[in-house]
Amino acid sequence: MSNVIVMDHPLIHHKLSILRNEKTGSKEFRNLVSEIATLMCYEATRDLPLKEVETKTPICVAKTKVIAGKKLAFVPILRAGLGMVDGVLSLVPSARVGHIGLYRDPETLKPVEYYCKLPADIEHREVIVLDPMLATGGSAIDAISQIKLRNPMNIKFMCIIAAPEGLEALKNAHPDVDIYIGALDSHLNDHGYIVPGLGDAGDRIFGTK
Ligand code: PRP
Ligand code: URA
Repeated sequence: MSNVIVMDHPLIHHKLSILRNEKTGSKEFRNLVSEIATLMCYEATRDLPLKEVETKTPICVAKTKVIAGKKLAFVPILRAGLGMVDGVLSLVPSARVGHIGLYRDPETLKPVEYYCKLPADIEHREVIVLDPMLATGGSAIDAISQIKLRNPMNIKFMCIIAAPEGLEALKNAHPDVDIYIGALDSHLNDHGYIVPGLGDAGDRIFGTK
């Protein structure tokens, strides 16, 4: 079954509180999404495999550790996942970035896919899928199913706010995927929005409302 890791760092709590505030404007919202993504990436990369190398310091040759193998690929779910990319790349600048374009049909709440471009060597990489919001779970489930067709080494999912309904659906659909969550909220409202949530993440990042 999926490991579910809910963040409990004071910096994340503080930044989330400002992020949720309806008065927070797009510029500050974008900065906060990026900063929270950086802090969450630190946790999500905690188990990356290491290998030992020899490093010549100014004093002697030392045995040191570096990340083994082909490292990471980040895959943001468009649009809102784009807001997390700079933040995670600031910690892992050599990672590749794929993109999956999905939007929720406002009537059915089902995801509609319109774009998919993944790194050519994705089968040699660990993938971290990025989306600020896990609501019904439809978008994340669909994106991960698409990525699995390309046989990556491993997949993790990282979101800033999750609803219990989406978390349950994602765990059931992809029990092999570990899930990193900034905050686990109360429930979904009748329009499929997370309560208390932060509203529409894509609109708040890109100022489209
Ligand atoms: C939002 C969000 C997720 C999705 C979550 O995207 O960024 O991708 O909804 O909802 P779900 O768990 O019920 O699928 P949206 O469809 O608003 O598209 P956008 O990012 O282009 O605004
Ligand atoms: N997508 C969002 O951006 N916000 C929600 O609360 C639910 C889905």
